[in-house]
Amino acid sequence: MSVRLDGKSALITGSARGIGRAFAEAYAGEGATVAIADINLEAAQKTAAEIGGKHYAVKLDVTDIASIEAAVKTVETTTGGLDILINNAALFDLAPIVEITRASYDKLFSVNVAGTLFMLQAAARSMIARGKGGRIINMASQAGRRGEALVGVYCATKAAVISLTQSAGLDLIKHRINVNAIAPGVVDGEHWDHVDSLFAKYENRPKGEKKRLVGEAVPYGRMGTAHDLTGMAVFLASSEAEYIVAQTYNVDGGQWMS
Ligand SMILES: NC(=O)c1ccc[n+]([C@@H]2O[C@H](COP(=O)([O-])OP(=O)(O)OC[C@H]3O[C@@H](n4cnc5c(N)ncnc54)[C@H](O)[C@@H]3O)[C@@H](O)[C@H]2O)c1
Repeated sequence: MSVRLDGKSALITGSARGIGRAFAEAYAGEGATVAIADINLEAAQKTAAEIGGKHYAVKLDVTDIASIEAAVKTVETTTGGLDILINNAALFDLAPIVEITRASYDKLFSVNVAGTLFMLQAAARSMIARGKGGRIINMASQAGRRGEALVGVYCATKAAVISLTQSAGLDLIKHRINVNAIAPGVVDGEHWDHVDSLFAKYENRPKGEKKRLVGEAVPYGRMGTAHDLTGMAVFLASSEAEYIVAQTYNVDGGQWMS
């Protein structure tokens, strides 16, 4: 069986669970060695053990520069160098504009935007010093394509991720580092359980109803699963994507066209 990421070293932020974990499993299946990097080290260790093989857990808080640098150093010493970064860790919150708190704004921008930028920067520095190029994939969202009444801060963070992907993509391609992004739609999992409970509160709905409605509204006919996204994540890291630069791809069952 041919594998597309044979011998590659990948770091995936927020990969203890959810979409990041599915990426880690897919990359492992394609022959990469994966650093399961998460703020929740215990969960990351459990995930790494369940995936098995040479994959390893790394404690990482993307809001902390020292933690980012230590994680990149761990990848360098464990595997000889970093080939692929997926900037996947993110937080969600919901509130009407008049109720958004400064604390919620700071927390989301710190993880989703600053975390993406400074993780990307540390990975790029490491890749440039090694001189072998690399791939960086940022997790955007359909939420970054347009605003939503209750989702002001999260939407703004994901619009920023799309913008950073464009700027970093244009700046880093001269080092043969391709930066691109994936914009999922609605993906079932623990993240959306949390989203559903926030909508239940703000829209006065029974639990589970928002999930059902968003799933029905997807042209494909259901919510996505983390595994619906893995093909794009493998493709963007593979040699087939060499000429793709600074793009954000919708993988959302037909929700957004751009
Ligand atoms: N689930 C969806 O519907 C959906 C839709 C569009 C985009 N996305 C994006 O996909 C990505 C993954 O989403 P998910 O649904 O798997 O989320 P999730 O909440 O299930 O997982 C996020 C992971 O990030 C980790 N994390 C949180 N803060 C961190 C920090 N400071 N440093 C390091 N790790 C941290 C968490 O411990 C967790 O393991 C996110 O960027 C999200 O915005 C998700």
